[in-house]
Amino acid sequence: MKSMVIGGIILIIALMTGTYFMAGDSFALGEDYINDLTMLGAVAIIGITVFVALKYVNQIKNDKATGELKEENWDGIGEYGNNIPTGWALMFIGTIVWMMWYFFIGYPTNQFSQIGQYNEETNEYQAKFESKWNNISQEDLVGMGQSVFLVQCAPCHGIDAEGIDGKAQDLTKRISKESVLDVINNGANNFKTDFPGGMPAGMASGKDAEEIAEYVAGGLKGTAPAMWAACSSCHGENGEGMDYVAPNIKNYSDKLVATVLKDGKKSIIGSMPSFDGRLSETQVKAVANYLRSIGE
Ligand code: HEC
Ligand code: HEC
Repeated sequence: MKSMVIGGIILIIALMTGTYFMAGDSFALGEDYINDLTMLGAVAIIGITVFVALKYVNQIKNDKATGELKEENWDGIGEYGNNIPTGWALMFIGTIVWMMWYFFIGYPTNQFSQIGQYNEETNEYQAKFESKWNNISQEDLVGMGQSVFLVQCAPCHGIDAEGIDGKAQDLTKRISKESVLDVINNGANNFKTDFPGGMPAGMASGKDAEEIAEYVAGGLKGTAPAMWAACSSCHGENGEGMDYVAPNIKNYSDKLVATVLKDGKKSIIGSMPSFDGRLSETQVKAVANYLRSIGE
């Protein structure tokens, strides 16, 4: 016991000397009370640390465990059936409470975040953009649509929008005979958001299908073939579609372009990616207007 106290005193002196050498010159007593307080704190921390350490070292050396041994033992090593110390239990519950606080009230929800700032500024800018072009003229709409098209769509559809030799849809007309025949034969369900039901396969076949496909690909001009009735129940007599039932197959209406950009489209030509969230409402409308302005 005595040797430990002496050891403790030596340790205190060593730590104090170390502190003095590291930071002693800023402690001219009485000159700056903050520095004095800091020094006092350092002395207190060193003292308390050493005494607590001594207490535990002493306890490790001298304490005997007490309590009732459990029945089972492993190679002669037994286990006490003591209750959890109250302090431990409280600390355990405390950490759970603290975790709840941390997750829901503390750091993550209330702090500054770069992503949050970015989103806020983007939304602000979008709102400004939308309100600036709220009453946009037809001419500006087509101009804006062309800009968007050249950046976002031309890499696949070509700057003349003709589809780069069949790599993507020729957007100067609505739809080719082959595409119509493919949908008739195989059905389609690309536009899951706006037309969740999709189009069933086999609504027409053989010569009927050929005639209908030619009629649709030709822009629904002239007299409709008799079997067009099988299509018009969903797509409308004029082919301009019905909300929730079937899309426009006659021209690139605002609604159709918005639908295609939302869900993308995969069919016999290739894969058109979804632009969901990448273009604003005004930009989508602008692209649709641009497509109609270059249509045949
Ligand atoms: C039950 C309603 C229904 C009927 C009947 C129907 N369609 Fe459709 N059609 C749809 C739906 C829904 C879609 C959208 C499919 C998708 O989500 O990809 C569609 C898509 C299409 C497309 C592709 C449009 C695009 O943008 O690529 C064409 C072409 C088409 N239909 C032609 C026809 C023809 C021709 C007939 C008659 C033989 C017909 N449809 C009958 C519901 C119908
Ligand atoms: C990665 C290449 C790619 C990009 C980029 C792209 N498209 Fe497409 N797009 C395609 C392909 C391929 C098709 C043909 C899909 C099919 O019918 O097989 C297509 C088809 C379409 C269709 C016809 C869909 C239908 O229902 O018939 C429209 C409209 C369209 N694209 C508009 C756009 C617009 C507007 C943009 C720019 C915002 C754009 N695309 C960007 C590849 C692309």
